[in-house]
Amino acid sequence: MQDAVTTPKAPAAQPKIVSRNVTKIYSTLAGPVTAIDDFNLDVAEREFVCIVGPSGCGKSTYLRILAGLDTLSSGSITVRPGVDPKKPLNSVVFQEYAVFPWKTVIENVAFGLQMRGVGEAERLATARHWLERVGLSKFANYYPSQISGGMKQRVSIIRALANDPEVLLMDEPLGALDAQTRIVLQDELLRIWEETHKTVVYITHSLDEAILLGDRVIVMSAHPGRLLETFHVDIPRPRTVDTMNTPRFAELRGEIWALLGKEVTRAMEMQA
Ligand SMILES: Nc1ncnc2c1ncn2[C@@H]1O[C@H](COP(=O)(O)OP(=O)(O)O)[C@@H](O)[C@H]1O
Ligand SMILES: [Mg+2]
Repeated sequence: MQDAVTTPKAPAAQPKIVSRNVTKIYSTLAGPVTAIDDFNLDVAEREFVCIVGPSGCGKSTYLRILAGLDTLSSGSITVRPGVDPKKPLNSVVFQEYAVFPWKTVIENVAFGLQMRGVGEAERLATARHWLERVGLSKFANYYPSQISGGMKQRVSIIRALANDPEVLLMDEPLGALDAQTRIVLQDELLRIWEETHKTVVYITHSLDEAILLGDRVIVMSAHPGRLLETFHVDIPRPRTVDTMNTPRFAELRGEIWALLGKEVTRAMEMQA
């Protein structure tokens, strides 16, 4: 047995994402608009972090900066690369079905791999594997116009996963779906996350969804977006949509809504 006193402690794992004093100011015709103000957030490796906040508080702006699709005005964001330099740092899933209508389902799923120069046999094998995992194998050769919205969004999600990114960034990925399809995909996301344990930053309008999926829920303030509070979701995994019916879930929802509800009202008053 090892001696507990002399065994050196493992160093604390470095966060996968470090955001420091992130500020984003857009210049508009009406003058500068501060979208995010001094936002700090660390995300651990294999952590699922959900961000909620009133409309217009800068959630998408933050995610776009994180994805490298937009620049920050000041502060810094670092995403720690993995050991395999060929793996992409991030993949993004947006609310809109970002599928290419002229490509088949399987070609869509394999697209990121194709962009990275992965050979045809390997990329199709990976795509097939992911299609199977979400029950879409039968639709491999369909075109997006021939499948439902829920299926299209599944294709977007597994295309991002097939890429095997270091971090998965999702901006209201289920936001355009009807309530029932949304529940099915929430369950699917939970299942996939159990299998992959990806580092995820997930933006959602739905507080229930944030609590269901997240290890932490970050509440942002109304314009300009600042980090108001962080809530740890201490509900054990594996979770399913039934987790939403547990007393602890209701308790957390009440606790977070007490803060978020006020912010949403404040945002509405600012717009009025
Ligand atoms: N390209 C842009 N130019 C000017 N203002 C923008 C731009 N993108 C977003 N904004 C403003 O920044 C704020 C945050 O927007 P956004 O990040 O989309 O919020 P959220 O995703 O939380 O709804 C809003 O006030 C929005 O009007
Ligand atoms: Mg948004």
